Order: sequence, then C-alpha cells, then structure tokens
Amino acid sequence: MKIQIKSRTRLLAWAVALAACSGAAHAANCQLNIEANDMMQYNSRALQVDPTCSAVELTLKHVGKQEAHVLGHDWVLARSSDVSALANAGMAAGFDHGYLPTGDHRIIAATKIVGGGQAATISFSTAGLEPGGDYSFFCSYPGHMSLMRGRFQFGTKERVASNR
Ligand code: CO
Repeated sequence: MKIQIKSRTRLLAWAVALAACSGAAHAANCQLNIEANDMMQYNSRALQVDPTCSAVELTLKHVGKQEAHVLGHDWVLARSSDVSALANAGMAAGFDHGYLPTGDHRIIAATKIVGGGQAATISFSTAGLEPGGDYSFFCSYPGHMSLMRGRFQFGTKERVASNR
C-alpha cells in the first residue's frame, strides 16, 4: 500500500515536469523573426503562432541597403479581407504616418517602417485573434503588398475543436 502511494506521487511529479516542458516549448513559438530585402521580399510566406501564446513578439529586420524612404519595409497584421483596403489607405497616409491610416481598427499590429540594416520589434496581444481565423501580414510601403504578403496562422480550427 505504501509503495503504491509512492509510485503515484512519482508519476504526478513526472506529469508536472512534462507539462512545464511543453509550456516552455510553446513560449518559444510566441517569438517571430522575419527579414525583408531590397528585392521587395520577405524571407517567409507564412508565420505560425500557437494559440496558447497570449502575446507575440515580432522582429522585422531589413537586410538590404536601401534607406527607409526609398525602399523601406514594415510588417502589418490584419484580417486577410482587410489587406487591400488597408494598403490603399496606407498609400494615402504617406511616409510620415508609416504608410498606414492612423488609429485604424483594422490594423491588428504593425511595426514602423525600417530601412536597410535596421530592425524593429513589436509585441502585441493575441486576445482579439480568433484561432483558425484568416489573417495575413503585409508591407504597407506603396506597391509592396502584391509581393510582400503572407499568411498568419493563429492555431487552426481543427486544433480548437480537438482541445474541447
Ligand atoms: Co516593403
């Protein structure tokens, strides 16, 4: 009887350690890095974030040489259905506003525009994101969106269903 209790305690300790381990693995997925170059390209077409992430830290690095006002890049997150309208509104907003309409609720997250050799890091909450929702990231610098655009996956609908 005594031995049985002891082994149960050991099993519990092992389960707790395992849970802590997987928690650390999830934490690592909450950080994203993306690069942009002078060819108007991101080095990634899709980014994934685990739905357990309550916040995401993203770093955009411009690995080219062009200055921000010549061929700068930013990273903007929005619903895929809002991307075209946001890119157009951004063009009208101009460089001084980071080619984004000020205070627009359709912007989920955005970095400033960076030039060659510069980087920008932002942190944003995932509280308003719907797991499995259709999100995209893009560069709002005029004319870049058609080339600089990718999918942003915050979990999947299947995953949410299996968690329930
Ligand atoms: Co760009």
